Amino acid sequence: MAGKKQFPKDFSQKMLRWYDENRRILPWRETPSPYRTWISEVMLQQTRVEAGIAYFERFTEALPDVAALAAADEQSLLKLWEGLGYYSRARNLKKAAGILMEEYGGELPADYEALKKLPGLGEYSAGAIASIAFGIRVPAVDGNVLRVTARVLADDRNIEETPVKKAMRELVIESLPYERVGDYNQSLMELGALICLPNGRPLCESCPVAGLCLSREKALWETLPVRRKKPSRRVEEKTVLLLYREGKILLRQRPPKGLLASLWEFPALPEKKSREEVAALCGVSPEDCLPLGAAAHIFSHKEWHMEGFFLSPGEGPPLPENYRWVPPEELLKEFPIPSAYAPYQKKLRELLSDL
Ligand code: ADE
Repeated sequence: MAGKKQFPKDFSQKMLRWYDENRRILPWRETPSPYRTWISEVMLQQTRVEAGIAYFERFTEALPDVAALAAADEQSLLKLWEGLGYYSRARNLKKAAGILMEEYGGELPADYEALKKLPGLGEYSAGAIASIAFGIRVPAVDGNVLRVTARVLADDRNIEETPVKKAMRELVIESLPYERVGDYNQSLMELGALICLPNGRPLCESCPVAGLCLSREKALWETLPVRRKKPSRRVEEKTVLLLYREGKILLRQRPPKGLLASLWEFPALPEKKSREEVAALCGVSPEDCLPLGAAAHIFSHKEWHMEGFFLSPGEGPPLPENYRWVPPEELLKEFPIPSAYAPYQKKLRELLSDL
């Protein structure tokens, strides 16, 4: 592409003016603190802003500061995180809170490099916290900001490539104002979320920088940003068993390492089994094995394709120690269960209310 790309000089001022009038009212913006900025940024790495609000309110009410987070027991922490997915992020928050208590007097450091070293924080989130909470002049380049950058500068390089991301980050750095850098970073994210939309037509009529945008005239935004196709995900099939006996449901805890580590789940068999196969394996007749239907869950690297069954097995051999019979009220309130099982949790609630 010819010529050096850069944001025009008055770009940041236009963005800040627009942000002042159009920013969304969000709890972590209205009552800010470094702690609240931190929690919100980690949550928003995986969740849309609108969906994140309720989780944020619930989390910060239960754990209002670094000390409370450091002291939280893992199970209640994971319960607060339930539904957000990527549970290692919740664990990293607690780990980081421990470090903050030991090394920084329970405060977040006003230092980008120190923030970046904390568990769970990377270039983006450390940049967001440093700029928003402490006014440090660093960028916070997430997917929204990459999209805005690619479009404003009509940059057709593949944003999945690390050197391209790095180059775009440099362009954003050059555009940073000397004041209100946190607001400027948020204005870029906000423009991506509200105007320069990822799917479908961006709302160029309402865009404060439409006049400067190099992709607007030729409608290049349709093809920008360029992304390499993602490799396909591995499919894992499983048969999920909701086993019910004497008023209790059987749960098992996943191993302490790997996908959804230490969370609780319904026992499952590898592969999809027929009703007859499940019945034979559990020692009941097929009529007593209630099919719950199919469900699927998509993770970043794999997909689970599930079939579920509800049944009451007879007395079996002793269970390994990671298995536990749990009353349904406890299961719903106290055991962190991955969202992948939500369709079966819903069926279970319906079934138990009928019993
Ligand atoms: N996404 C992540 N952090 C955000 C923020 N501070 N404002 C708007 N969108 C965001």
